[in-house]
Amino acid sequence: MGLNLNDDPFIESLRLDGEFLVRSQLVGKASKKSKDGVFSLGVRAKSRTSGPPRDSYGLLDSPIRKHTPSFPRLSHAQNVTPHECGFITISSAIFQRVLVGRGVDFRILKETNSSSPSVPAQYSACAVAAHSIISLSEPIGTNLLSIWFIVYGLYMSAQRGRGILVDQSTGGTIDWDWWKHASFYHVYVKSFRDSNNDGIGDIRGVIEKIDHFPDSGIDAIFLSPIFQSPKIDQGYDVSDFMDVDPEFGTMDDLKELITQSHERNLKILLDFVPNHTSDQHQWFVDSVKGVDEYRDFYIWVDAKYDGSGNRQPPNNWLSVFHHSAWSWNETRQQYYLHQFHPTQPDLNFRNPKVVEAMNKVLLFWLDQGIDGFRVDAIPYIFESENLYDEPPSYWPGVPDYEFESLDHVHTKDQPETYELMHQWRQLLDSYSEKNRGHARILMSEAYTTIENTMRYFGTRDGTKLGAHFTFNFFLVGDATAGASAHDIVVSINKWLDNIPPIYTSSWVLSNHDNHRISTRCGPGNIDGFNMLKAILPGIDVTYYGEEIGQENGEILYEENQDLKVKNRGMFEKLCRDFERTPFQWDDSVNAGFNDGAKPWLPVSSKYLETNLKKQKGDGPSHYKVFRELTRIRSNVVLVRGSTVVKSVSEHTILVRRSHDGSSVVLVFNKGDSQVVLNVSEDVSKTNYVEIKSVQSPKEIGYAVDPHHLKMEPHEALIIFCSI
Ligand code: GLC
Repeated sequence: MGLNLNDDPFIESLRLDGEFLVRSQLVGKASKKSKDGVFSLGVRAKSRTSGPPRDSYGLLDSPIRKHTPSFPRLSHAQNVTPHECGFITISSAIFQRVLVGRGVDFRILKETNSSSPSVPAQYSACAVAAHSIISLSEPIGTNLLSIWFIVYGLYMSAQRGRGILVDQSTGGTIDWDWWKHASFYHVYVKSFRDSNNDGIGDIRGVIEKIDHFPDSGIDAIFLSPIFQSPKIDQGYDVSDFMDVDPEFGTMDDLKELITQSHERNLKILLDFVPNHTSDQHQWFVDSVKGVDEYRDFYIWVDAKYDGSGNRQPPNNWLSVFHHSAWSWNETRQQYYLHQFHPTQPDLNFRNPKVVEAMNKVLLFWLDQGIDGFRVDAIPYIFESENLYDEPPSYWPGVPDYEFESLDHVHTKDQPETYELMHQWRQLLDSYSEKNRGHARILMSEAYTTIENTMRYFGTRDGTKLGAHFTFNFFLVGDATAGASAHDIVVSINKWLDNIPPIYTSSWVLSNHDNHRISTRCGPGNIDGFNMLKAILPGIDVTYYGEEIGQENGEILYEENQDLKVKNRGMFEKLCRDFERTPFQWDDSVNAGFNDGAKPWLPVSSKYLETNLKKQKGDGPSHYKVFRELTRIRSNVVLVRGSTVVKSVSEHTILVRRSHDGSSVVLVFNKGDSQVVLNVSEDVSKTNYVEIKSVQSPKEIGYAVDPHHLKMEPHEALIIFCSI
């Protein structure tokens, strides 16, 4: 056959509900070489739950469709009536035999089992005569081989009698750009897994734990900065953008991580920190010395002198980390700007050489196989040239050395920043076009007003594009201990009402700069919040540990590692170490983070109770809920459906996604008391509970009474309904 694959077929069964009848992917060497990334398997199956056998067939993923356009896409489950929805699991044994018989050497990465306890086997759908096609490009791209495999059978699948989420539309297409409905996972490398037991998480640690991502249904990971750095600001002070910091590993480790990720069809993105460098970066060292090439790489300004002849900074601008944004340099006899810490001098993007140097950084990592970037601190890239003072914000009670005391009209969200974002988008798009495969993407980090946040996507009409998506941080700020359901609903709807329809939403609950959601809103509410972000339209972003409901760790003031709070009050509120403590893998020493060396931050004392191993064991768990959520995200209603978000009691949030006669409804009581609700406006009589929070007494697979829905404290339900 001319095939020399040591490939990993990746087989998973998906619901027979619309877009995803059966999905299979081959990921392997040939795909890497051909840059197609993913091979797809189309399956034609006959289902026989009632009446005569009926066909439904289709194909997922674009690379193969490109080569075999005549093979119908699985855009709808033709002829499959609601009662024929269900699971189909290809027998991997049979599939294996077929592939091995064809000289293809492979190993099953992921197997799903139709006898999974979450699938009530009320009906059985016997699917026979599956017919698959795999189309492979030759590595050198000269040849196109089409290989037809007949898979002799499909295992019996369990059928949900109430399986009603069938996409019966005939037209319309979904944009299959990989990132648009993906589940992203934020790996804070230093705290993820310490492979060499030196107390600091590292890249090899991420490699060791790499199967956690596909196991959890994650499509893409992004790493906190792993570049060379003195790490005064935990790696956000970069001293060499094109090398790996030895504390995190080597370039070879990173290459291996990239390879291993791609072998699992997992995208991997890096943190791009363009606003500033470390003061130890050679560019800054040379700039201080006045070396010609680097003289204007940073923002240098002469001092002002007051009436008594005292040297003063050029204006009143403040650093995000408080006090003046200007520091004096004795050698240059000038002030330099730092919107963050004095050891993080701001680059001067008005200098074309800086733009060029940073473009090179992007291209360098793209050439290493990186799939995109988080763009750090984007609002701060440009400042207005006139250096005018900023006006006071008049926020009550904010001391005048705090960043919030000024209205940042000259130092944030400048028009040139948006232009630069468009240029970076063009750079990535043309790289993707040239190198084929998939879109390399930009995700922007911007804490700003809703209007300015939206501008990072591009112009409203899409004539100029910026970030593929900009993180939606509004829930990070709005989902607090004291927030009512109404407050959270307002926050979500503010986003949905403002995002131009051509752009893609994202949902974030916590990150390395903000306290964890389980701590802010109570550990009992983690399932409800995970459900919320999973079923809202667009991209779902998970901060490491959120899948098990990890809470903030316990840090003493003496243990503080965060420069943001050094010599400053408000430790409990502002210190970011709390949300950065090691991932809780199991109940062994240091929660399995390492083999016993003192971790850079203490492991939370809660690890015996909350850890991944335990949550994978018997009984319900947050992790199991999380996995169910990533599974249902591919449901057509969640991909395409309209969205309604409302509060139905003081502490109960309801989200309804609807598409073509079916809907998926979240009811989430985040309060401490039981409530009885009438949700009949949103939940039809024909319904069943698909997923429930850990403490819910409801039964999976059974209908709720929409007129009299009793919700226990912190209970959350995902209910599937047909209209
Ligand atoms: C971003 C990072 C934060 C860092 C800051 C300065 O906001 O998320 O951790 O301190 O940039 O680089």
